[in-house]
Amino acid sequence: MTVPEAAPAATRAAEVRTASEADFEAVAGLLVDRGEPADAVDLRRMVDDPQVGWSHVGVVEVDGKVVATASWIATTIEVGATVLPAGQVELVATHRGHEGKGYVRRLMAWCHQESMAAGHLVQFMVGIPHFYRKFGYEYSIPMHSYAKVTDTFAAPNAITVRRATDLDLDAMLALQRRAQASFDVRIPHSRSQLGWLLDRDGSAQYIAVRAGRPVGTARWTDVEGDVAFCAEIVADDPEVTTSLLAAARRDDATLWAMARPGVPGLLDCLGALEPPEWYYVRVSEPNRLLDALRPEFDARLAVSEFAELDGSFLLSWWSGHVRSPIERGRLGPFERGGALQAPVASGGSGVPFDALGRLLFSDGAIAVEDRFPDCYLGDQRALMSVMFPACTTDALTWYLP
Ligand SMILES: CC(C)(COP(=O)(O)OP(=O)(O)OC[C@H]1O[C@@H](n2cnc3c(N)ncnc32)[C@H](O)[C@@H]1OP(=O)(O)O)[C@@H](O)C(=O)NCCC(=O)NCCS
Repeated sequence: MTVPEAAPAATRAAEVRTASEADFEAVAGLLVDRGEPADAVDLRRMVDDPQVGWSHVGVVEVDGKVVATASWIATTIEVGATVLPAGQVELVATHRGHEGKGYVRRLMAWCHQESMAAGHLVQFMVGIPHFYRKFGYEYSIPMHSYAKVTDTFAAPNAITVRRATDLDLDAMLALQRRAQASFDVRIPHSRSQLGWLLDRDGSAQYIAVRAGRPVGTARWTDVEGDVAFCAEIVADDPEVTTSLLAAARRDDATLWAMARPGVPGLLDCLGALEPPEWYYVRVSEPNRLLDALRPEFDARLAVSEFAELDGSFLLSWWSGHVRSPIERGRLGPFERGGALQAPVASGGSGVPFDALGRLLFSDGAIAVEDRFPDCYLGDQRALMSVMFPACTTDALTWYLP
């Protein structure tokens, strides 16, 4: 099923098209005017990356002038051993004199169309509050909370913290991969995206080295006003954590750190956690997404009370559904169907469409049933709790949330 995009309310002269190098000044100028100087740097890196390029940048042109833009990049969401190709929309802006005409609505539709044509099964993003709900996104994955760094500490002499360079990319990818390994759902950086972020204006990547060996990494921002943010910390031990925080802390600025679970000693350095913000997820074709996750469901069933189950599985999102036989604990191919008003009476479960992201990537079936009045797990409750458990998630993103 494809979620319909509402008809655009744009002017007749507006044309949505793929951008080209000739548009660089106009697109970069628009992004800087509506966002920050770093956006122009990001645009340059994105279009210069052979895996991305101008085909990922959309613009709306009115009377020969670029008045709105949006871009998309490819990422992956790893669920257990399954890798889901995903799209991520970035660099969204409309010229001040042209807001409210549906241009970004049209560009979001363009980005989603391109992303799905590239084989993406889901879209994921960080963005301004509420806005992206209008384009099929739901808040689906909680971010790690931030907290003020409270402890004062001296960096141990044996550890050097320095700006990371191209030569550190493999070490940083290995450190991040190791840090993410304990999470059920992981959104890593690709090598090229991590490369763009080494010295993004406004934030940079750092590496901690002890006896010539990389032992930690983190990303932190410049001081803006009197605050700075430090995130995505990986550390071999508490001394590495304090070394990174000591390096990130500057003069009188308040340092906020992302309380990434599993970082040794980090919580001891932090004050009270702020409530988490959430990542947006957009599911457009649940049947394809669920089918891609079948190996993961089989793996979950294999270590459960349902390992030898002969039966069936039925999941409705009310306007559509999938069903599958289960033979000796393994799901068969999903058969896709239309609207199903009473899935529980047919032995299945009903989950609202807008809760599918939370079902798959964070809360799991039991919490979704608690939270959404139109979620009914029915007699499949125990099976659903095994197939869709609560998940921990760690995401590396372009913008620091
Ligand atoms: C936010 C921004 C991109 C909107 O662009 P736009 O071309 O005016 O958006 P559209 O006209 O396509 O609006 C689409 C819908 O979103 C709504 N909308 C617009 N701005 C909104 C906002 N900040 N929050 C919530 N809804 C908003 C519109 O009312 C419209 O709703 P409708 O289709 O249901 O009537 C533009 O205001 C902008 O460039 N802002 C500064 C930069 C920025 O914040 N970029 C996003 C970074 S994540």
